[in-house]
Amino acid sequence: MKESYWQATAGPAGDFPALDHDLETDVLVVGGGITGVTAALELRRMGVRVVLLERRKMSSGDTGRTTAHITMMTDTKLTELAKHFDEEELRLAWEGGQAGMQIIRSHGEKHGIDCDLTDVPGFLELHAGAEEKDFESLREELELARKLGFSVNWLDHGPLGRAAIRFPDQAKFHPLRYLDGLIRQALNTGVEIHENSPVDEIAGDSATCRGFSVSYKFVVIATHVPPSRGSDLGADLFQTKLSAYSTYAIRAESASTQLPEMIWSDTADPFFYLRVKKEKGRDFLILGGCDHKTGAMESTGSAGAALEEKLKEISDDSRITHRWSGQIIEPVDGLPFIGTDGDGRFIATGFSGNGMTYGSLAAQMARDAFAGRENRWRKLFALNRKTPSCIAGYVKENATFPASFVADRLGKPQETSADLPCSCGAVLDFDGGRSAVFRDESGLLHVLDPVCPHLGCIVRWNETEKTWDCPCHGSRFNATGGLIAGPAVRGLSRRDEDQPAVNVG
Ligand code: FES
Repeated sequence: MKESYWQATAGPAGDFPALDHDLETDVLVVGGGITGVTAALELRRMGVRVVLLERRKMSSGDTGRTTAHITMMTDTKLTELAKHFDEEELRLAWEGGQAGMQIIRSHGEKHGIDCDLTDVPGFLELHAGAEEKDFESLREELELARKLGFSVNWLDHGPLGRAAIRFPDQAKFHPLRYLDGLIRQALNTGVEIHENSPVDEIAGDSATCRGFSVSYKFVVIATHVPPSRGSDLGADLFQTKLSAYSTYAIRAESASTQLPEMIWSDTADPFFYLRVKKEKGRDFLILGGCDHKTGAMESTGSAGAALEEKLKEISDDSRITHRWSGQIIEPVDGLPFIGTDGDGRFIATGFSGNGMTYGSLAAQMARDAFAGRENRWRKLFALNRKTPSCIAGYVKENATFPASFVADRLGKPQETSADLPCSCGAVLDFDGGRSAVFRDESGLLHVLDPVCPHLGCIVRWNETEKTWDCPCHGSRFNATGGLIAGPAVRGLSRRDEDQPAVNVG
């Protein structure tokens, strides 16, 4: 996968040993991103033993692939959320975002983390080609935000010249420098960290990792999307309340624009989002958008082209320095799932585009759950909440599961391995069986089982990121089958040893 701007400009937080012995602890945290590390720190402050296990390197997940808007504005607009939640719940949802912002500010200041944390206004602006009904919807969004008591202003001309809502006191930062500061703090306070330590199973009061057992009193699963439990139907039903989306970002430098330093998004569907930093007479833009369900886009290259076109509209003299993609876990009703499941596991997921704020809030909710304290957001974000609209959304969002499951098995593979260029992959008929085949830089073929180990869909090749993506629930695998992101808990099986390249020609 391509390195994000954040990954290119932050040093590693350190090297941590893989787990190599059995352990007993009070709290086990699974996941080394912003949610897991903040939770480990919050829990450690209570004086209990905390162990954190990360599947790959610390900070290597989606915290480093976000565009790191720190905002109370939910990706799902208030007027949309109002279809599922009452006004009290809506207010609480945005106050949750404000609380998350405050947690970040507080950690940043208290630990002196050098992460370019800057207060900026946020804008929600009409998209290009918006119609009268879009204008009316934006007015309704403004009125509802005001009715709920949030400070917002109407602008006839927003940063890009169209009508907009302005939200004061939002923020932006360098997410990996912030996370690295938190990791150092967690280490200093005695959190035990192991990386390259995938958790294979979590059951009862113990987990297994690399063949070792970790027993705990409380477990926090902070893995972006919770891992599947294979045959446990209840857990997999939970997966169906979530949908994985891919999103794309580019960073560009520009001589100067008329734009203020800000975070911004528009009302398109899918929407574009932008952050602007001004420094020494130059503008640094990070533009994102073109979201689509993971594994569902035929050519991911078209997302990059659409972003470039949008960038030209904003600034025609900019130079692109970085491109990357990330994954967003969309909850079925627009709000995250944070809380304890029927087996006593504390799970935090479904943050949509609000992972910085809701991830930070989830850490404090985990602390309160461990301590047996009530928390204001416990009911609103409960894992087992259910509304009739929620079920309708579930059917729509997961329509690709049965369709992909059947169609990808019946469809005829298009190519043969002889046609496969270097650094490319495809699902092919290979040696009489359907395989996910990747030809590496040196011409060697890597032949994999194309069946996703989660629930059995056929993976698809993502040409932009050089990954295998599952169209059903968004598991992702690297070109040679290694697991990048669940809900699958293991990679694609190898079908064959590497073979000398056949004629590439
Ligand atoms: Fe569910 Fe692949 S992620 S079948």
